[in-house]
Order: sequence, then C-alpha cells, then structure tokens
Amino acid sequence: MAPPSQPAWWHTGVIYQIYPRSWADADGDGIGDLEGIISRLDHLSDTLGVDSLWLSPFYRSPQADFGYDVSDHCDVDPMFGTLEDFDRLVAEAHRRGLRVIVDFVPNHTSDRHPWFLESRSGRDSVRRDWYVWRDPGPDGGPPNNWVSHFGGSAWTFDEASGQYYLHLFLAEQPDLNWRNPEVERAMHDVLRFWMDRGVDGFRIDVAHAIAKDPLLRDNPPAQIPDDGYKISAEFSSQRHVHDMADPDIHPMFRKIRRVVDGHPDGADRYTVGEIHEFDWSRWASYYGEDLDELHQPYNFGLLLTGLDPAKIREAIVGIEEALPPGAWPNWVLGNHDEPRIVTRFGWEASKAAAVLLLTLRGTPTIYQGDEIGMEDLDIPPGRQQDPWGRRMPGFGRDGCRTPMQWTGAEHAGFSPPGTRSTWLPVHPDHRRRNVAVQLGDPDSHLSLYRRLLRLRRSCPVLQLGDIELVGDAPNPLVYRRTLAGAEPVWVVLNLSDGEAPVPSQVEGGVLVGTHRDREGAPSPRRLRPWEAVVVG
Ligand code: NOJ
Repeated sequence: MAPPSQPAWWHTGVIYQIYPRSWADADGDGIGDLEGIISRLDHLSDTLGVDSLWLSPFYRSPQADFGYDVSDHCDVDPMFGTLEDFDRLVAEAHRRGLRVIVDFVPNHTSDRHPWFLESRSGRDSVRRDWYVWRDPGPDGGPPNNWVSHFGGSAWTFDEASGQYYLHLFLAEQPDLNWRNPEVERAMHDVLRFWMDRGVDGFRIDVAHAIAKDPLLRDNPPAQIPDDGYKISAEFSSQRHVHDMADPDIHPMFRKIRRVVDGHPDGADRYTVGEIHEFDWSRWASYYGEDLDELHQPYNFGLLLTGLDPAKIREAIVGIEEALPPGAWPNWVLGNHDEPRIVTRFGWEASKAAAVLLLTLRGTPTIYQGDEIGMEDLDIPPGRQQDPWGRRMPGFGRDGCRTPMQWTGAEHAGFSPPGTRSTWLPVHPDHRRRNVAVQLGDPDSHLSLYRRLLRLRRSCPVLQLGDIELVGDAPNPLVYRRTLAGAEPVWVVLNLSDGEAPVPSQVEGGVLVGTHRDREGAPSPRRLRPWEAVVVG
C-alpha cells in the first residue's frame, strides 16, 4: 500500500459534486445554471476548501432524465447558459485552484439526438448501426429478456422499421453501439472537445454498460438474493452478465484512457467510472492490469454497508486487498441518485459519517448539500419529476435533488427573490438549515466539514497515508493512518447508540471531533453515542 510516487491532484484532493439544476439559479427560472455556479464558487474554494468540482450534465437535452439524455454533447443547454458561460466557469474555477470534472454520458443519447433520428430513419440509414437494433424475437416480442433500470423491457418497438431498439434506461435514452468504430471515434471526439475547453476530468456515466454481450444473450435468472442495493425486484431477478460489463469493456476503457492521457496539452487529467460492482476483484479490474484503464472505478461500498462497523471493516479489507499495486481507492457516501446521508442515518450519525468519508484512505466525493446535513424531502406525487419515481413509485430520486439551501430567505437563496417557483420544492427546513446559519454556528455540520477539510489539507498522512484497521471488535471502528516520516493519525468512530471504549493504543490529542468540546484535549477513553474523533 505505498503512496503514489508522484501524487496527482485527484490522489490528494476532495471532489464536490454539483447537480447543476439544483445548486444555484442566477436567472430566476427556478432551475440552477452555470452563472449561478460561478457566483457560488467561493463556497468550494474558501468556505470548504475542496479541490475539484464534478458537474452533472449541463449539455443540450430534452431533460427526460434531467440531462442524462444528451441531444448535443458539445453544447450547453440554454436553460443552463452558453459555451461562453462554461468557459468562464472553467476560468473562474481554475483561478481559485479548483479542477473541473464533467459528466461524460457514453452509454446512451437522447432519442432526439441527430444521430438517433438518423438511425431511426430506416434500416439502411448510414447511422443504423450506431444504436442497437434487432428484429423481434421468435414470439414477435423483444429480442431478449433484458430489462430497463427504470422498469419494463429494455427494448422499444419501432413500427416504421419493424425492429426493436435497446435502451437500458428510458425509451428516450437509446443505447449507443460501442462496437461500431465510428461511434467510438465520435465519442472520443466528445472527450477531446471538452479537454480543448480546459476540463480536468470526466465522470463516466454507467461506464460498465457500454460493452454488452455481442450475441445479446438472455440474462440468466439470479440465484443470489437481492444484496439490498436499491434495485427493483424485476431488475434483481436477473444476473446482469450479458447486458453490461462484457469483457470487451477493457479495451474500450484503455482507448478512452489513451485519448485522455494523450491530449496534446499534456494536462494531468482524471477519469472516474460509475461502476456498481461489489465483487472487489471484479471492481478492481477496471483500473486495468497496467493501471491503463480508469483512474478510478467509483467505490460504492459504503452505500451497501451503511454505518454498520463490521461491514465497513469488511469493505475496507476487501478493497485494499483487491487494489492492483499503485491503484488509488476512493469513497462515496451519497450522490444525486441516493437518499441523503442524514435521511439514511440520522442527524448525529451523519456527523460520524462525515469523519469516516474524509479520513478513509482514498479520494472522497462530497455530494452538494451534505455539508450542511440536508435531508430528503418527500415530494407529493403531483410534483414528482424523476422519471424513475414516476414509473416506479418508491424509486424516485427527487428527494435528494431539492435546491441547495444557502440562506433562510425565500427559495433558500437558491433562486433570486421574486422567482415564481423552483423546479423541485425547497425543503421547508431551509429556514434553520442553511449555509449562512451554519457558517455562524461552530457546532454545525458545515463547521465540522470545514474543520475536517482543513485538517486533511494540512495533513499528508490523511491525504496519502496507509490505512490499518485496529483491533477485532467491530465497534468502535478504529483505524490508523501512517506515512513514512510522519506521526500516525488515529480515527475512532463509535457507530452505535451506546457509549464505546477507545482502545488503549490510541494516543494523542483530538485534532477534530464530531463533538467540539473534545478538540485540543487528549484523546478521550470513552466515546459518546455516534461520536468520532481524529487523534494525532
Ligand atoms: C446514472 C446517473 O447517475 C443517473 O442519474 C442516470 O439516471 C443514469 N445513469 C442514466 O444515465
């Protein structure tokens, strides 16, 4: 577990995810925009002190899946601004020392993308093979048993040409055929387009789905019970061995990596793939045998473990053992697809969760609003926006996408005064839970995140050090971070409702704690419920 010999920004740094519709609305249409993001960049550089921002899609899109249905990869949707606004955003971010990561959506396009319109125009269209078209199965139904993540068959019949097209998500999101070299080249050009505009990295949407079984065989039925991850009974009744993650994915990632590393400006760029894989050796394969595929496949382990200390231990061990030499881990506790941290774990526990996320070995990603402990909002059926929730009640993701809570004023300071309404309702708790209030409260979530981020920035052991689990008892969860030539740092997390003893080896003063009264004092010998301390 040696630290990287030449650490790059994404090894040491912290990433902050912005969901552009919901972060800051400058023009008062109730939907966030690039100008709004520019106006709030100081929150990232000064208030928090993170190193980079990842922007979920802001490209031209009919918004069937809120931007994950792209109709022009190389333009900004007018609701978010213009390409010039984007250039300014990059310049303003860079001026503050922030790297910019953009979403790359390679698996599918919008059904209104000119490529799909052309493809759909007839069986002999020059772009027919850019998407996955097949004749009906022997019974006249879909060509195979694949199901959409959002429910129902993954195939839609096109009356005009008498064939089905594949969509692993909505029918409005037809899957591209990455086995067609022209598609691959066109998508590489998209990467080049954004690199030419100065972006520092790409978050690759459903990365492992771009390679499917070339024979499009049926998925076999699942033998193993549902692992608890948020998927429907229909989806989890199959083993997804043919509709995604075909072994041919690896050369595809290697080529993407060559395009990114090979950009003539020689900038130090980063790729992180959205890969929901919990078998750690399969997960680790996406780094590439020679670390020549993704810089990182996202590690969604904590979404499965929750705050169960025994399961977190298992995930840490599993991940560390599976990592190829030289590969760098990463950790995620939330994003725009998941219920929020406070909603999952509760208020007190969510503070311990912040300590966990920001002290584990690896690159952390913070989802917007988690730094103030935002909670999911129950959206009444008539106002629900997410197509998944509208099709499959209970699966909606609107709750975690409500507007960012900047102040206690009208629209939480997300939209300017006088704005008629916001695209999703603002959580009514914004009057007491917002950035402005928490800035002035030393015991707030925001103050805790700031202290943790400040500590991390000044502490190479936390940024780059090894991790070693201490003791065998699951709780408290204790690990030691070490780096040659530096004093070790201990992290002790009581992930329970009762008190917990601190092991005797843990010595030093509390650098940061969920309970501020501990800070500056020698490590306590017992922790209160859901208390966490960083000791050094
Ligand atoms: C994963 C994205 O995070 C999610 O929001 C989206 O709906 C699907 N991919 C489809 O692009």
